[in-house]
Formats: sequence, structure tokens, C-alpha cells
Amino acid sequence: MSRQNILALLHQAQDYLSGEEMSRTLGISRAAVWKAVDALRQEGYQIESAPRRGYRLLEAPDRLTAGEILPYLHAPRLGSHLEVFSSIDSTNSYLKRSAHALPDGAAAIADRQTGGRGRLGRSFDSPAGVGIYCSVLLRPKLPPAQAVNLTAYVAVAVCSAIEAATGQHPGIKWTNDIIMANRKVCGILTEMSIEGESGALQHIVTGIGINVNQKGADWPEELRVIAGSVSEAVGHPVRRGYLAACLLNELERMYDDWLKGSRAPYLERYRQDCITLGREVRLMTAQGEQTALAVGIDDDFGLIVRTPDGQQRTVTSGEVSVRGLYGYV
Ligand code: BTN
Repeated sequence: MSRQNILALLHQAQDYLSGEEMSRTLGISRAAVWKAVDALRQEGYQIESAPRRGYRLLEAPDRLTAGEILPYLHAPRLGSHLEVFSSIDSTNSYLKRSAHALPDGAAAIADRQTGGRGRLGRSFDSPAGVGIYCSVLLRPKLPPAQAVNLTAYVAVAVCSAIEAATGQHPGIKWTNDIIMANRKVCGILTEMSIEGESGALQHIVTGIGINVNQKGADWPEELRVIAGSVSEAVGHPVRRGYLAACLLNELERMYDDWLKGSRAPYLERYRQDCITLGREVRLMTAQGEQTALAVGIDDDFGLIVRTPDGQQRTVTSGEVSVRGLYGYV
């Protein structure tokens, strides 16, 4: 951990920082500082050392580690119990199986998932070195029915985080795909645990998978018409540590607002960002498949559609394909 703490200090300093100051700040020996700097160099960090001035970070590889996230994190609740994994089966599964021992706001981030999960039992492609796979555990004191709109709030927070890190604002494909340059760059999976006897909400795990630095050829064949990355959309590589910190910062703000019952600003932003509106959609519901026009988002974040017979109704779940996206022409 001292390696990650040294890295965080060097990022924050943006200039020379003496070995003595680092050893004092972290309560470790000068030898331990030197060892950590050496280990960081071996990981690809370019750290200059100058006599009497100390160490200065010149260049950092794009790694998703605590040392790359912590310097930019301002999230007292979500940052207080943050675990960063180089590889894990699924950050959602991890928080679900560890929930009994973790506090409200515990967060898990991984560089790679070996069993990333998506909605409707699908898998979520989670290769190493290019994405952000992040989950947070929430324990709101709310009835389950009031918690179902959380995913829409998370989508708004993800858009803000991507904008904060890149300057470009994504769109939302109802309900929870984040879109840039007509491609899905992020998916959200929110899972709730409800006590069988009382029906009380025990906890929520919301998971966010962002494709950050993938290139066209990196995608498995079946994802090529659907998936894209943030870097492809903005035209340059994006630092994942910074984006992950922006994500946790925005999720923290969103969680506070959500608990306070602040709905209007999120509805407004969701409606503004929702690229599904005004387009033809194909609805896959339990009753079968139907084409309709997406005309609005209701006050519970449901999708209002007008069917060819002129009827208007609200869709709250199921698959919705949008004409012009993901190969639907
Ligand atoms: C979807 O688009 O169907 C939702 C994808 C959600 C993926 C994220 S990555 C972090 C968290 N861990 C998982 O296994 N899934 C979510």
C-alpha cells in the first residue's frame, strides 16, 4: 500500500517532493520510500530524482490502481472503503457476497473482470488495461419500490463523470446504456437484495462498466456494431484513474441527492440526455415485439411510447431497441 500512497503524493505534488517529507507524511522509513519509488519505476512510472530536491513524477502509465484514483477523489462516503483489484470475477458479485461485512458506500473497482455480468443474465466483456469496472454498495433506508429508479440517477451521474473527465457529454439510451458516437460506452447493472420475510430492502449493488480505451479491433465480433469506447469518441486516450475518481465523486453527489429525494434536476437531465426520445423503437416485452415512437420520459423515469394505433403507454422494463443504433436500421 505504501507504493500507492507514494504515488498519490507524487501526483498531488506535481513538483519535487523530498523523500523526508514523504516518509514523515506516511510514517514510513526513508528506505521504504526509496523501495516504493523503485517498484513504481519498474511498473513503468518515470520518476526523476534530484539531489536535495527529492522526487518528481514525469510520466505515469494508464493504470487503474488506488494511487491513480486517490489524488482526484473527493467522496467522503464512497471513498472511505474503496478496494481496487487488478482482477476479480465481478465487482457486483464481490460486493454482494461481502455485503454483510461492508459499510454503506463501500466501493470496488477492478482493472479486469473474469466473470463480468450484464443485464438479463448476459456477460459483460471486461478485459484488462482498457476499462473501468466499478460497483458500490448502498444501504438506503427506503422501501424497495422507491429504490427502483436508482439506475436512472446512476446514468445521469455517469454522464456527468465522463463530461468532467473528457469535456464531452454522452447520451443515455433508455434505460441505462451510455452512448457516445452512436456506440455503447458504458452499461449499468443494479441489483437489490430484499429480505424474503419482511420485504425490506437490505442493500443495493450498482455496477458500472465503462469501455475507456478500447480500439475497434479489440471488440469480440458480436459486439462490433454495439460497443465503442470513450477514447474513440473523444479522439484521444483517457486516463482511467482520473475518470474512475470523477465517477465516484459524481456517484457520491448523486447518492446524497437521491437520499434527499431530489428528483426534478435528475429528471430534467435524464430527459435532456435521453437519445431514445423522438426515435422509432422496437419493444420486446412479455407480450411480444412491437414498433412504436418514443415520445417522453414520465416522472418515474419510465419510457412513454406512442404505438401505430395512436395509443400512448409507458414502458418500465424489457428490451428497447432504438432505430439507428446497434445495427437496427
Ligand atoms: C449491461 O450493459 O448489461 C450492464 C453491464 C454492467 C457491467 C458492470 S461492470 C461492473 C459491475 N460488475 C459486473 O459484473 N457488472 C457490472
